[in-house]
Amino acid sequence: MKIKTADFVVSNTKVEKCPDVKLPEYAFIGRSNVGKSSLINMLTDRKKLAMVSGRPGKTRLINHFLINQNWHLVDLPGYGYARVSKREKKVFQKFITDYFKKRKQLVSAFVLIDIRLEAQKIDLEFMQWLGENAIPFALIFTKADKLKPNAVKRNVEEYKTKLLETWEAVPPCFITSSSKKEGKDEVLGYIDQINQQINFKVIA
Ligand code: GTP
Ligand code: MG
Repeated sequence: MKIKTADFVVSNTKVEKCPDVKLPEYAFIGRSNVGKSSLINMLTDRKKLAMVSGRPGKTRLINHFLINQNWHLVDLPGYGYARVSKREKKVFQKFITDYFKKRKQLVSAFVLIDIRLEAQKIDLEFMQWLGENAIPFALIFTKADKLKPNAVKRNVEEYKTKLLETWEAVPPCFITSSSKKEGKDEVLGYIDQINQQINFKVIA
């Protein structure tokens, strides 16, 4: 899929205030600093569409981006950011879980995983929660440029093995590097394929 237009639409903390249009939507979620915003910039070929920072906790709102006038990408705050207060964490969690539970336009979540780390409890729990709430998701391994190709392969295989301890099958998995622009065609192709399948169905 070629990205012809990518425009920021709106930021907010309330799912009720998200764009009231029947367009398919894909949300990027994962631990703080895993590279959600960078990935959105890489996929859309825009340097500053989503805000990126080396310090965790940069994205604090639900951000909608309209792509090619016919689908939305959503950048979300990260979970597991230790430096926000407990109260703030609860508020964050509430609006993120609300978003996932209530957003009818959501077609699939992409759970981002730092390829360098072994499976983290918080990510596994979040996937479990998505499963319990019947929210489809795919996995995106980020920062592949930080490892040698063999280590990339090994870590992905280990991750899949870990998932198979609790899941019957592994979700679609993508290996990406935002700095090297890797994995772009695969992720966009996947989204395109789903968009074409649901084109004729009424969403929401
Ligand atoms: P929050 O909004 O804070 O939850 O973070 P985020 O998940 O949106 O991460 P963000 O895109 O802001 O990136 C965090 C840091 O990781 C930044 O310093 C990025 O430059 C860096 N980063 C993101 N993706 C990659 C990648 O593919 N390779 C490398 N080497 N660095 C990356
Ligand atoms: Mg971000």
